[in-house]
Amino acid sequence: MGKNTSMDTEVMIEVKGLWKGFGGYWVLQGVDFSIREGEIFVVMGRSGVGKSVLLKNLIGLMKPDRGEIYYKGLEISSASPAEWKNIRKEFAVVFQHSALFDSLDVEGNVAFGLRRMTDLSEDEIKARVRECLAMVDLEGIEHLKISELSGGMQKRVAIARAIALNPRVIFYDEPTTGLDPIMSAVITRLVKRMNTEIHSTSFIITHDLKLAFNSATTIAMLHDGKIIEVGTPEKIKASENPIVKKFVEGIPD
Ligand SMILES: Nc1ncnc2c1ncn2[C@@H]1O[C@H](COP(=O)(O)OP(=O)(O)OP(=O)(O)O)[C@@H](O)[C@H]1O
Ligand SMILES: [Mg+2]
Repeated sequence: MGKNTSMDTEVMIEVKGLWKGFGGYWVLQGVDFSIREGEIFVVMGRSGVGKSVLLKNLIGLMKPDRGEIYYKGLEISSASPAEWKNIRKEFAVVFQHSALFDSLDVEGNVAFGLRRMTDLSEDEIKARVRECLAMVDLEGIEHLKISELSGGMQKRVAIARAIALNPRVIFYDEPTTGLDPIMSAVITRLVKRMNTEIHSTSFIITHDLKLAFNSATTIAMLHDGKIIEVGTPEKIKASENPIVKKFVEGIPD
């Protein structure tokens, strides 16, 4: 149906001429792209190219030096604290190292946002935690400690925590790094499931080609501070750009 990329869906995120540098060194040099509702938008690129810097600009942890970032038409880097409070309610982030709270058990982690941001009763919170854990195929582990979980389980708990508040956009930083190929495939499947089941939009940064090609509706390749190619996985696979080709085929310089 081409639903995810058709012109009648809403533009969720738009990045225009984004520049970000540190001490005279420009990491991002005019990045442009837009993401429509329901997409799984994957940014790939070599280590150190600026993927995490890009993500941090999108979620408000860094401010652009130049350019604009819009969320549903609102320019977010100049948004007021009150506007940011509303934006944050609609964003969820799955960080590279899961960033779970070791001092809390699984339930405490998944319920964290529910307890802070909603006035649900304890019973409702417990039910929502159960539902979110079921979505990542981890029923009945509410009372395990984070230290008792494998890396793959931690990643799934981090996803369960991310979806608890029904975000409109889920941001993932390297969701499969450090996982074995089977667990990477499980996470890839979950990323897709989250998009369809909670009708969210996803933004993923990764250098995992399997994750990119098996989940994305759109892939953008970041290189030398710019998006040098963007399109469907098929378009990226067939790209004639030598840098994209080398990356996709895993050929070193
Ligand atoms: N807060 C900061 N201060 C100074 N330099 C920074 C800062 N954050 C990132 N950088 C620099 O920006 C560049 C891009 O870093 P970034 O972490 O975005 O890379 P990446 O593409 O995410 O790499 P990886 O795939 O290894 O995670 C690096 O040269 C890094 O040293
Ligand atoms: Mg990174």
